[in-house]
Amino acid sequence: MTGLANLRLGVVGGGGWLGKAIVQCLLDSGTITPDRLYLSSRRPRAGLFPGATWTHDNQLLVDNSDIVLVSVRPGDFAAVEVDTQGKLVISVMAGVSFARIQAQLHSDRIIRALPNAAAEVARSHTPWVATPACTDNDRIAARTIFEACGKADELTQERQVDYLAAISGTGPAFPALLADALRRHAIAHDIPAEVARRAVNTLLVGTGRLVEAQDRCPADVVDEFIAYQGMLTAALETMKADGL
Ligand SMILES: NC(=O)c1ccc[n+]([C@@H]2O[C@H](COP(=O)([O-])OP(=O)(O)OC[C@H]3O[C@@H](n4cnc5c(N)ncnc54)[C@H](OP(=O)(O)O)[C@@H]3O)[C@@H](O)[C@H]2O)c1
Repeated sequence: MTGLANLRLGVVGGGGWLGKAIVQCLLDSGTITPDRLYLSSRRPRAGLFPGATWTHDNQLLVDNSDIVLVSVRPGDFAAVEVDTQGKLVISVMAGVSFARIQAQLHSDRIIRALPNAAAEVARSHTPWVATPACTDNDRIAARTIFEACGKADELTQERQVDYLAAISGTGPAFPALLADALRRHAIAHDIPAEVARRAVNTLLVGTGRLVEAQDRCPADVVDEFIAYQGMLTAALETMKADGL
C-alpha cells in the first residue's frame, strides 16, 4: 500500500481550525480526493470542500470511513460516542490519552498526533505515536497524512507527544509572542508602527527560511553570531548567562 491508496477518511470536526487545515493539505497535495472524505461538524458547513460528504452523525461518518480522524476540542470529546471497532483512529486532540480514546471509541488501533497551526500553510511539525495494535499500513497512512501537512516524526512513547504539545504544538504562538515584544519595543522607540510590524514579520519569515534552507541546530546559529563578535555578541552572551 502506498499513502492512503483508496482509503476513505472521516474527519470528526472537519470544519474546525485544525481539521479544516489538515483536509485542505490533503486535497492540495492530491493525497485524497473529495469523494473519499466524510466530514462532520455540529453547525452546517455547506460549501466547504465541495465533493466531500458532510454529516452531523458521527456514527454514520465512522461507518463510511476506513480511517477516523478526531479533531474536536478535548472538552467536546465526551459527546463523540461512536463505535470505531476495526478502524484506525487518529486523534489530534491535545492531552487525550490512548486509554481514554480506546475506552470511548472501542478501537485498539489508535494513533495520537499533535500537528500545529502552521498546517494551514502545510508547514506543521507533527509528532505522532501509535498503539502496539497498529499495523504497518496504519503507520504509512498516518505518515502520509501528516507529511502532507509539513514534517512528521514517529515517536515511541505517548508522553513524548504530550510533552511536544507545549513546544511545537503551540505552533507560531511563542515565536509570535517574541516578535510582538520586539514590535512593541520598536514602536516605543519612535519606529512607525507599520515599519515595526513589517520589520518583525520579515525577521520571522527570514529566520524560518534560513533555518529551513540550512537545516541547522539553532544553537549553531546563536554561536555563529557570538563568534562574529559584532554588536549582538554582548546581548546574546548576557541572555544566555541569564538562562534563556
Ligand atoms: N488549532 C491548533 O493549532 C491545534 C494544534 C494542536 C492540536 N490541536 C487539537 O485539535 C483539536 C481541534 O482543535 P481546533 O483548534 O481545530 O478547534 P476548533 O476550531 O474549535 O474546531 C473543533 C471543531 O470540532 C467540531 N465539533 C465539536 N464537537 C463535535 C461533534 N460532537 N461532532 C462533530 N464535530 C464537532 C466543532 O464544530 P462546530 O464548529 O460545528 O461546533 C469545531 O468546528 C483539539 O483537540 C486541539 O487540542 C489544535
